[in-house]
Amino acid sequence: MIQVQSLTHSFSVGKKGQEKHIPVLKNISLSIEQGEIVSVVGRSGSGKSTLLHLLSGYIKPTSGNIFINNQNVTNFNEKQWAEFRLQHFGFIFQSFQLIPSLTTFENVELPLILKGIQTDIRKKQVSKLLERVGLEAHATHYPNELSGGQQQRVSIARALVLEPKIILADEPTGSLDVETENEVLELMKNLNKENGILFFIITHDKEVASISHRQFVLEQGVIKEGGVFVDV
Ligand SMILES: Nc1ncnc2c1ncn2[C@@H]1O[C@H](COP(=O)(O)OP(=O)(O)OP(=O)(O)O)[C@@H](O)[C@H]1O
Ligand SMILES: [Mg+2]
Repeated sequence: MIQVQSLTHSFSVGKKGQEKHIPVLKNISLSIEQGEIVSVVGRSGSGKSTLLHLLSGYIKPTSGNIFINNQNVTNFNEKQWAEFRLQHFGFIFQSFQLIPSLTTFENVELPLILKGIQTDIRKKQVSKLLERVGLEAHATHYPNELSGGQQQRVSIARALVLEPKIILADEPTGSLDVETENEVLELMKNLNKENGILFFIITHDKEVASISHRQFVLEQGVIKEGGVFVDV
């Protein structure tokens, strides 16, 4: 489902004409199958978010190739990426990224509106998902009326609403306390089991390993431990 071949990325920093190239990812190769939960752990600055930004097309690699769903996406332009992301990916972020002026229901509904889905189908789909993440009683709440764990569950419902096969998550439990974290991890684990969604989870947090089938350790831009199978 996701194949990364000899991926390398350097950032250019400094004034024009005297830029320095800082290598951040070095020769990364990995292969992830449909239905897997894979986590990437590593210290701050090891290149985890950069890897996720490369996989989702927000930055272009210096060299190497990325295949998703057997398609070489490495040289996609912005328009191709925008379409591809809508079709294939759901995103979950540490800071939830909900729209504060929209209710729970409206936040989850928004991607369906943008896609031009009919009202009655939209309403049904959002209700079903809110029930799935246990928030049907909070449909009319605004984000600031929800706990962190509840906000993250709204963002998970939103990530799922266009039925992606891949969810990319950057520190999804980074803002949550241990109890709420377990609640969110349990939800992701069940979604993976029931719907076969591939989860690619970037994290600092060793707890996330408890739901991962495999874990990669990134150290200074290099995969140190590659794809160790974890007992779930
Ligand atoms: N846009 C950028 N321009 C220049 N350097 C950058 C840029 N983005 C990231 N970096 C550098 O790349 C390295 C890796 O950053 P990245 O954000 O991928 O780390 P991370 O593993 O996600 O860290 P954290 O756990 O703190 O989120 C860091 O040294 C960072 O300073
Ligand atoms: Mg990061």
